[in-house]
Amino acid sequence: MATKSRVDEVLLRCIGCGAVTTVSESGLACASCGDLLEVVFPQSADTGENHSDFDAVALKALWRQRRASQLPMDESGVWRFREVLPALGESHGPITLREGNTPLYELSRCARSAGVRQLYAKHLGMNPTGSFKDTGMTVAASFAREDGFRWVACASTGNTSASMAAYAARGGMRSLVLIPDGKISWSKLSQALDYGALTCQVETDFDGCMRLLSEIVSRMPIYLLNSINPFRLEGQKTVAYELLEQFDWRVPDHVIVPGGNLGNSSALGKALVEMKELGFIPKLPKLSVIQAEGANALVRTVRETGGKKLVPGKADTMATAIRIGNPGSWKKAVRVLEATGGTVEQVSEVEIALAKAEIGSDGIGCEPASAVTLAGLKKLVLQRFVDPDETVVLILTGHLLKDPDFTLKFHRGDLFVGTAHEEQSKILAPQQRGPMVLEASVDAVLKVLETAEKTS
Ligand code: F0G
Repeated sequence: MATKSRVDEVLLRCIGCGAVTTVSESGLACASCGDLLEVVFPQSADTGENHSDFDAVALKALWRQRRASQLPMDESGVWRFREVLPALGESHGPITLREGNTPLYELSRCARSAGVRQLYAKHLGMNPTGSFKDTGMTVAASFAREDGFRWVACASTGNTSASMAAYAARGGMRSLVLIPDGKISWSKLSQALDYGALTCQVETDFDGCMRLLSEIVSRMPIYLLNSINPFRLEGQKTVAYELLEQFDWRVPDHVIVPGGNLGNSSALGKALVEMKELGFIPKLPKLSVIQAEGANALVRTVRETGGKKLVPGKADTMATAIRIGNPGSWKKAVRVLEATGGTVEQVSEVEIALAKAEIGSDGIGCEPASAVTLAGLKKLVLQRFVDPDETVVLILTGHLLKDPDFTLKFHRGDLFVGTAHEEQSKILAPQQRGPMVLEASVDAVLKVLETAEKTS
């Protein structure tokens, strides 16, 4: 390498015992107690220095200014916030697909249906590979390359693998993907194949894939790119910075995220807490995590143990992205709930399907896992945890086209046929807009139009 790698200058702190370490001392888990690590930020924090390096006003102006630049690092909606990321060495620069810079939309119909006045969606499905994973992958993959790795790997419910495969390919690295056989959407699988990953459909679930991979990376020089990798979470932090920038640094009352392996909620929460400490924002929004009833480990952990001990379970939900029973970052997520005053909630399969169609009606497409946010919000309003006058942001994590099968089956009316939810799913009929098969005549189309006009 031309210059010394800076990976080893990044300080990491164990979230269990608090030990401060580096990648070469510990790898991705604490050498003393085995718990997860997080990047110490700002890196001066442990030396007791103040944060005078961070001139919040100047940085806010600089970050906006970079949007007019054509440098790859500035065009990336992650690296334009590089002052809050661990510093990359100069040997390669970042692997970037110009991720981030995702839109914030107002959702007027969904707001009415949820019973709040101001509802927004931050759509991370508008990233280059169609999910929020790109914001973390650009950072972690860049550090993997800087550290000299030739292979990267992940276990995945589909989106991480699609993203990892793309960034590995861009960075000239090989990638190994372990996905649960038959339990992920074909769209996501096709992405991993197209980007050249060595893709293994393993006869187990996500949690089983994760167990296998932990063993494999301990035996081979392969860099693990799951969200227990603290560098991934640093990249995902920038979503919160960008969101606040889009609000002109006015703080929304609630941010609502789907929960699977719980890396995303951990990253957003870490960013918010840091932003307040550094003087970017005067207060914290409440960050709440919504899970599917069939994959509700965090909900049970909070309700049954007060967040002290993980209650893992066998996961099952049609929102396959969050079909996870043993979430890696649960401790980090509990800490975020406590720091921000957020809560947890779970939603049923039918509630998820309804919420997804309602988001669609607002002209915004997302995948089922993202729709748990709207379904959860409705419950939080009924519980008065969210006040109708408060400003709420839903984090939509994946694009509609990530799981077209779900959408087609929903509108054709056969999503729940033969399942335990069939009876309850009858309430979905008004939302179903199945395609019609017509004879090839003007009259036939006009007749359909007429009926539609009367019923609208
Ligand atoms: N939404 C989507 C679309 C996802 O793909 C995931 C996770 C989540 C939400 C949950 O985020 O794990 O950070 O709590 N997908 C992972 C994967 C597990 O392998 O693609 P989380």
